[in-house]
Amino acid sequence: MILLITGGAGFIGSNFIRYILKHHRNYKVINLDKLTYAGNLENLRDIEKNKRYRFVKGDILKTKGEWLKAKGVDAVINFAAESHVDRSIIDSADFIQTNVVGTQALLEASREAKIKRYIQISTDEVYGSLGRSGYFTEKTPLSPNSPYSASKAGGDLLVRAYCHTHKFPGIIARCSNNYGPYQFPEKFIPLLITNALEGKQLPVYGDGLNVRDWIYVDDHCSAIDAILHKGKIGEVYNIGGNSEKKNIDVVKKIIALISHRSPIIKFVQDRKGHDRRYAIDSTKIRKELGWKPEYDFEKGLDATIDWYIKNKNWWKRIKKGEYKKYYKKMYEEGKGQKANG
Ligand code: NAD
Ligand code: TYD
Repeated sequence: MILLITGGAGFIGSNFIRYILKHHRNYKVINLDKLTYAGNLENLRDIEKNKRYRFVKGDILKTKGEWLKAKGVDAVINFAAESHVDRSIIDSADFIQTNVVGTQALLEASREAKIKRYIQISTDEVYGSLGRSGYFTEKTPLSPNSPYSASKAGGDLLVRAYCHTHKFPGIIARCSNNYGPYQFPEKFIPLLITNALEGKQLPVYGDGLNVRDWIYVDDHCSAIDAILHKGKIGEVYNIGGNSEKKNIDVVKKIIALISHRSPIIKFVQDRKGHDRRYAIDSTKIRKELGWKPEYDFEKGLDATIDWYIKNKNWWKRIKKGEYKKYYKKMYEEGKGQKANG
């Protein structure tokens, strides 16, 4: 089996490539990635010489059916995306290009090449925000609130339409918030861990009571593996770790685990349109595909902190580069969240 993994130099894609090479010894992987600010080939350094792995620098917008055919691709798994909500609030143009137009180009190329399976890596954020009770099921209407989630919903609707119109072999996976090794340190958990390790402030948006349903990245990878091999064409599968946490409680846990440099919590201005609560009902994938997560939040957070402690060079290089400019704009020049007082 030859898999085309798009966006494989990012956080989840790189973890998934490692997962596939380890669990399917006869599979080959082609990683197509544009290497945006979030794409980092250092995420794949340990496997770059593996004979079953190949990297191709490219944009999903330009994928052609002929190329997929020539490479003998059997299945496409589309991780490629602009993925950060805060960036989409500042400027959403790239989000529409990659997440909507790029998805269409990849679908069209995959259709032309008659690939056997196409998995769209989507997000629970397409469902919008929950109140205090209830869960997102696969039947929850799409109600995206941020330009990021709207662009992901656009991609999902195209996949749905290709399945319906062209009998295209697409499946959509909608996962909750991931954390784990190689996550770019602009996202909440790696930002907290790396700031805590550096003795810096820990920025918390608004009142800190927003809830996210966290899943360790390996559990997301095993769910995608189950969908790839056992999922039903045309279906949607929700994936979640059953780990709802208030943001402020995540901060407190991280402080308790990395207490040696006494980091300070700083409440900053809330994100515009900040979704209050996400929570996934993953009954369908558990019952129909026999998947379940292996990590609870404590075990996953321990493993993640351990990784960031052992891989300081990885994140320090990122924090020194382009990310630093972005960080300055967001937290110091006040173009994004402004500090309260
Ligand atoms: P990421 O930002 O770390 O990685 C995205 C990757 O896509 C990068 O390597 C980037 O270079 C590449 N890319 C961007 N535009 C491209 C283009 N036009 N062509 C080719 N490559 C391109 O993101 P992530 O956190 O690994 O998320 C991966 C996927 O999972 C995304 O589709 C995201 O919407 C989805 N998702 C993420 C989470 C999460 O918590 N991180 C949760 C649910 C779903
Ligand atoms: P994030 O990792 O950006 O994921 P998403 O917005 O896609 O859920 O943020 C997770 C939660 O943490 C979200 O409620 C916003 C919040 N947050 C902060 O409080 N401070 C921060 O500096 C960041 C980046 C996020």
